[in-house]
Amino acid sequence: MLTDVTAFAPATVANVGIGFDILGHTVESLGDRVRVTRIEEPTVRIRNISGIGGELPLESARNTAGRALQAMHSSLGLSYGFEIDIHKGIPMSSGLGGSAASAVAAVVAANALLETPLSLLELLKYAMEGEIVASGSAHVDNIAPCLFGGLILTVGIDNPRVKQIPVPASVRCVLAHPHMHLGTREARAILKLDVSRSDFVWQTANLAGFISGCYSNDLDMIRDSFNDVIIEPQRHSLIPGFMDVKRSAMLAGALGCSISGAGPTVFAWAETQYAEAVRGAMVAAFAAHGLPADHWISSIENFGARIVKS
Ligand code: HSE
Repeated sequence: MLTDVTAFAPATVANVGIGFDILGHTVESLGDRVRVTRIEEPTVRIRNISGIGGELPLESARNTAGRALQAMHSSLGLSYGFEIDIHKGIPMSSGLGGSAASAVAAVVAANALLETPLSLLELLKYAMEGEIVASGSAHVDNIAPCLFGGLILTVGIDNPRVKQIPVPASVRCVLAHPHMHLGTREARAILKLDVSRSDFVWQTANLAGFISGCYSNDLDMIRDSFNDVIIEPQRHSLIPGFMDVKRSAMLAGALGCSISGAGPTVFAWAETQYAEAVRGAMVAAFAAHGLPADHWISSIENFGARIVKS
């Protein structure tokens, strides 16, 4: 019987522009590692947080990984407990799914310590409890790709259905993370509650077009549909220089460019041969607005959270 397991969970772009709260994908180069140790005392406690975790709470109920394991622990009525060590590799409040990654890595590691391991859909439910701590609402667009890997569409909250969408092999994701923080709660609080009929039609057409373009390997369809007409226009002013960053990415050959999750990271999709130019253009545009930015180019592969040490 294992007593100590470490899991890695990747960063995510979610939402992917047009799929607000329902469409997200993994990022290969960044992630959180969580070690879960089985302890005799029937409780969930956090021993340590290292890496770029800032001032994350050690109190389980206020921490996404702790809260996720509390939900699992009480639902299964376990007679033993879990001790958690978190190593943050994803910048805080960056729009790269850091809160989801810690929760997902925790449930994946704890699952390996159970007598009867749970399905990924069951783990999704517990990780979602953790996400509520960070953003104040239940949304699965970060958690589902983090757990399942690749580009993931999630339909439903109480009984979510998860669908892995194929991504054309030539597509890369380019990310520019400006050195600033933007809280998910804050970026959600500014959103209007109503949507006009015209915006509704465009957004649904674009989402459908984007997904059909992915299935049919149709890059023109992906490019033409890569346009979030509802959320991005309301949020972009929270990110200094966003419109210039987006314009620069498109001029450098991107298929599309939008806000990663709640921001401030900006992401673009580009064919491999344009990815470096797109990255340079985005970073230069942020710099012109006085913002240094970290940057990555990632493939969108079907690798979700996984055990890395047991
Ligand atoms: N889909 C969410 C949002 C993700 O955009 O508000 C935030 O992590």
